Amino acid sequence: MKGVIIAAGYGTRFLPATKTVPKEMFPLIDKPAISFIVEEFIDSGIEDILIISSRRKKSLEDYFDREVELESVFTKENSQKKLEKIKPLKANICFIRQQEMRGTGDALLLAQDFASGSQICVAYPDDIVFSDIPLTRQLMNACTSAEDTVLGVMNVADNEIDRYGIVDTNDNGRVSKLVEKPAIGSVKSNLAVIGRYILSTEIFPLLIEEKKKNPSGEFFQIDPINKLASMGKVKSHAFSGIRLDVGDPLGYLKALVEYGLMREDLKDSFFSYLKKVVSR
Ligand code: G1P
Repeated sequence: MKGVIIAAGYGTRFLPATKTVPKEMFPLIDKPAISFIVEEFIDSGIEDILIISSRRKKSLEDYFDREVELESVFTKENSQKKLEKIKPLKANICFIRQQEMRGTGDALLLAQDFASGSQICVAYPDDIVFSDIPLTRQLMNACTSAEDTVLGVMNVADNEIDRYGIVDTNDNGRVSKLVEKPAIGSVKSNLAVIGRYILSTEIFPLLIEEKKKNPSGEFFQIDPINKLASMGKVKSHAFSGIRLDVGDPLGYLKALVEYGLMREDLKDSFFSYLKKVVSR
């Protein structure tokens, strides 16, 4: 299994900050959002990771590189603690830049050579999940064949289905249909896909067909996944864990609060502060 992170988008929900700071670099306190995903992959046993970025996102490449100047300063100071903080993550991380913003289908097609016959776990960096078993590992465990596509899903409130891809399942637990952001009341299910899928290599020829239908505009993986679903090859997996959505301003704010309350070094003082704020 290899990991692919789709990180080329403009991040318009966070303008003007995203004029210069990629949203994937927004930190939860001191760690950029994308680092949580890379660590989830590594903790799941994935060694090869492709980040699909764009020319606007050079800081992503720098972040995963060595920081030679700080290394030398901290080595002189003999500060192991600081050196530990800047140590690059242990994975083969490579980048490819999407040349035109033509949708996530186009971004995924850029991963075809990298996949070279392996299944890939695709992550949208907006979704950060804290769980005992890393989310990617949960999906890998749900995968029983190299032809499986597995979508991470969770239940959402009926009035929120228009913000997600919603899956319908048939009696044998396989996905029968994925509908992207359906109107409220238009579908029976409230099982939402989050930004973690395991895709088999069968997705690539289907994405190429999709591109041919729309040679110059945006295209997505939804129809190709539905084709695989019609062949009975798509599963959903209701994962366990706490999902934080850092993809929009309110979600990001909630994520900061949740993460602040998880951090051993901050949670007590932060909780006292929150109680004061609430009582005001
Ligand atoms: C994306 C996907 C959607 C999924 C959601 C989960 O939407 O298109 O299927 O349910 O992520 O976070 P976005 O939030 O980027 O609009």
